[in-house]
Formats: sequence, C-alpha cells, structure tokens
Amino acid sequence: MITIKLGDITLEENIDCIVNAANERLVGGGGVDGAIHRAAGPSVMTECRQIGSCPTGSAVITSAGDLKVLHIIHTVGPIWYGGAQGEPQQLKDAYYNSFKKALEYKIKSIAFPAISTGVYGYPKNEATLIALSVGLEFESKFDEIRYTCFSKSDLTNYQLTLHKLRG
Ligand code: APR
Repeated sequence: MITIKLGDITLEENIDCIVNAANERLVGGGGVDGAIHRAAGPSVMTECRQIGSCPTGSAVITSAGDLKVLHIIHTVGPIWYGGAQGEPQQLKDAYYNSFKKALEYKIKSIAFPAISTGVYGYPKNEATLIALSVGLEFESKFDEIRYTCFSKSDLTNYQLTLHKLRG
C-alpha cells in the first residue's frame, strides 16, 4: 500500500525504516539529513563513519539510534545540474536501491522524504513522478510505502501525481 502524509520523518512510528537524503561522504548536513542525525543521536553517525561513503544513487543501512524505527537507509540523490547529467536515472537509482536494500533486510514498511528536492535542487514535479513511479513498481513487495512530505504543497503534489499514475 502506498500512503502519503504531511509530517516530520524523524517522528515516524509504526514503520520499520525511514530513508535519509544523505550526501556521498555520509557526514550529515542540513535538511532531512541534519534532522535525522539530531533525532537519532551520535550512534548513527558513528555507523556512517564506519561505512565511509555512499555513491550517488546507492543506499546503505544503519541502525536507527534513538528513533522509533528499526533501521535508517541512507541514500544519495543527484544534485540537479539541469537534467542532462544523468540526474533522472540517478534519482531512480536512489529510490530503487533503497527498496532493494530494504528487501535485503526483510523490511516490510518504509518511509521516504522527497530525495534531492531540497538542497540538491531537483525540480519537485519531476522528482515526485520518479519517487512514486519506482514506489508503484515495489508496492506489492511491502506492507506500506510511505511518502512523508514536509510541506502542504509537497503533500498535494504527491497526492495528485499518485492519482494520475494510478489512472
Ligand atoms: N522530514 C521530512 N522531510 C524533510 C524534513 C523532515 N524532518 N526536513 C526536510 N525535509 C524535506 C525537504 O523539504 C525536501 O523536500 O526533505 C526533502 C529533501 O531535502 P534535503 O534534506 O535538502 O535533501 P536533498 O535535497 O536530497 O539534499 C541532500 O542536503 O542536508 C544535506 O547532507 C545532505 O548534502 C546532503 C543534501
């Protein structure tokens, strides 16, 4: 089942895993990366340091520290350079590899922020289409795929886009 909700992903409960929009060096940052590390606590950063890095489009997994979930999957979306540097495929890869990592760890429910649409500047409409298209590919493999939107406009965009994709 795909669900779309408005909220702070660090507060998610009754879900196995949340996804972080990280950077390749896994050193934390602002945005959702900063919020997740602040809420999860230093143990997650220690694990990230041990992992060392994550190429754009890939995904790694850590524990969830003080969060009310079991795991955090850290994925790295593309920085938007206008769309001709392979960004769409890299964003697809980020969602795809997050789902693959979740399946590897028998995760049955997962929540995503809107990867790359903040600091990395990816246009929201295109990013939402990619996020939900990949989600629909994996929908049957999870009890819940949740998209946690941080603004009402994102929420509306996700709801409209899912409605269009479902036809
Ligand atoms: N809960 C849910 N969504 C959030 C939260 C939150 N607490 N905080 C921010 N967001 C949303 C933003 O509104 C945006 O829609 O997450 C989306 C992704 O924005 P960023 O966090 O800026 O991530 P991204 O654009 O992928 O840039 C990643 O930013 O924080 C740094 O270290 C990170 O270098 C990396 C880069």
